[in-house]
Amino acid sequence: MQEQRPSISEPRIVVLGSLNADLVVAVPHLPVPGETVIGGDLHVYAGGKGANQAVAAARLGVKVVLVGRVGEDANGAFLLKCLQADGVDCRIERDAQHATGVALIEVDSRGQNCIAVAPGANGAVGPDEVALAAAELQPGSVLLLQLEVPLAAVVQAVDAARSRAARVILNAAPARSLPPDLLTRLDALLVNEIEASTILGCEVRDVESAKQAVGEARHHGIRVVAITLGALGAVVGYDGQVMALPALPISAADTTGAGDAFVGAFAAALSAGLDYDEATRLGNAAGAAAALVPGAQSSFPRRQDLERLFSIHWPDISISREQGGQDI
Ligand code: RIB
Repeated sequence: MQEQRPSISEPRIVVLGSLNADLVVAVPHLPVPGETVIGGDLHVYAGGKGANQAVAAARLGVKVVLVGRVGEDANGAFLLKCLQADGVDCRIERDAQHATGVALIEVDSRGQNCIAVAPGANGAVGPDEVALAAAELQPGSVLLLQLEVPLAAVVQAVDAARSRAARVILNAAPARSLPPDLLTRLDALLVNEIEASTILGCEVRDVESAKQAVGEARHHGIRVVAITLGALGAVVGYDGQVMALPALPISAADTTGAGDAFVGAFAAALSAGLDYDEATRLGNAAGAAAALVPGAQSSFPRRQDLERLFSIHWPDISISREQGGQDI
């Protein structure tokens, strides 16, 4: 491990995305339509895919700016306090017209979840937020986007990043169909198996079908794709190669936010100069660590947690560059 951390004087990751208060109940099984299930106590956690990914990257020591909107309510104040505690630089508008976004989440005894989101202020993200994000971008910065804010803002933000020679990562979650030219202007597309099926138009169930989907994505001009597969790890395709990288063998307590932990760690790794396969491996470890603990942001690992996991499970692999490039 390197002793010296890189000195980072400028923002390296800019996240434009959602913030939600997550209202979570543990249930014995996820209800089917028409069924009522009695669960445990209600817990309120800090969530939202944008905020989650910002925190996941910041916990690994990367400088992160988050741009978004919350309401002028108690949930908004709670979310801002959590982000500040994690050192995320917030450019968050307090919106008097809309409530803070809320996610209703049920988690079953195997750690699987169902999520319904009331977007609230996230749905009002638009040109003002795009301008705030653009002002933070410079050549080499990473712009990290998801689909919990309006698509028009996502498209405008990609344009802004391109004109500033910043790199763009899109986590296309939740899944929706996207303009094809948006996908070809990304530096990396990150999706889970459900999102891959919707966006790439081929069913993804396992490593083999994920490899085929990556080939299909390349055919459509998408340069880098990583598909997360839960306990099966992830498949990443770049520079003409397709690699399947394993998950850590864990027993999941709550998978909420595990995908966001993957994305935040992947972006942190890229911004620190690691390769796509190293970023995917780091993402896999972060996702596994997040699934061990309830909640989204509450579960995300710090650098030392990942170093410990690597030393136990993958002792031959370092998450730092020993010589030359940057450390994470
Ligand atoms: O990805 C998990 C997140 O999805 C939760 O934190 C919830 O807020 C929803 O946005």
